[in-house]
Amino acid sequence: MSIWYAEFQQRAATSFTLFCAIRAPPGQRQYAVYHGCCEGKRASVRLFALPRGMIEFRPEAPEDRAVIHAINQAAFDGAFEAELVDQLREDGLFLLSLVATIDGAVTGHVLFSRLGVILDGRAVAAAALAPVAVLPEFQRRGIGSRLIEEGLAALPARGITAVFVLGHEDYYPRFGFSPELARRFESPFPVDAFMALELVPRALDGKSGQVTYPPAFGI
Ligand SMILES: CC(C)(COP(=O)(O)OP(=O)(O)OC[C@H]1O[C@@H](n2cnc3c(N)ncnc32)[C@H](O)[C@@H]1OP(=O)(O)O)[C@@H](O)C(=O)NCCC(=O)NCCS
Repeated sequence: MSIWYAEFQQRAATSFTLFCAIRAPPGQRQYAVYHGCCEGKRASVRLFALPRGMIEFRPEAPEDRAVIHAINQAAFDGAFEAELVDQLREDGLFLLSLVATIDGAVTGHVLFSRLGVILDGRAVAAAALAPVAVLPEFQRRGIGSRLIEEGLAALPARGITAVFVLGHEDYYPRFGFSPELARRFESPFPVDAFMALELVPRALDGKSGQVTYPPAFGI
């Protein structure tokens, strides 16, 4: 990556905005906006907005494993999710493990893994969405949302018809997840936090069912 243009704008005595145009593959100019502030002689700069084209998404490669572990550990401030990813990989339960990269560096990760789902006595080809993690310094810039969207778009080609998630009721409905849809399944989770999404219309039509998470989840 190389910077071919930068513009500095003083906004107040102690704050400034830096606009950067970045030359990035495949030869396009892309823009990033940084907001900075000065304290005495020290200046710090925070990335404020990422242009869409700067972020790339791809399935994990073997050399990403350590950084995926580190991202989950940093995002969740603990080892549980990082170890969960390692265990599900070892157990052969991955359906799709996607990373987000900026200038080649991995900054976010989402995992979709096999989930046992029975509805009215029939098996449903379902995935669990968990975990999703973005490095703390890159959070709230759309990376997590894009990881989830890219993953959901890729799952039907892998034969998956429904996805379940245990998470925040303010976050996942924006991707189409619904607590109502999950209510027909027995689960030990709070009803508003357990959500389901049909990737194929009517995939979860039915009266009652069970969802069985793999042992690695410790449920
Ligand atoms: C959750 C996470 C993956 C979202 O990724 P992100 O790139 O930061 O999020 P995006 O920029 O795509 O979306 C931002 C939105 O997510 C919401 N959001 C971020 N973290 C959230 C959380 N833990 N719970 C609820 N909402 C959250 C923000 O409020 C924001 O909402 P808005 O668009 O209405 O302002 C990321 O913040 C993260 O890694 N958090 C720590 C790990 C975690 O909690 N993972 C999810 C477990 S359910």
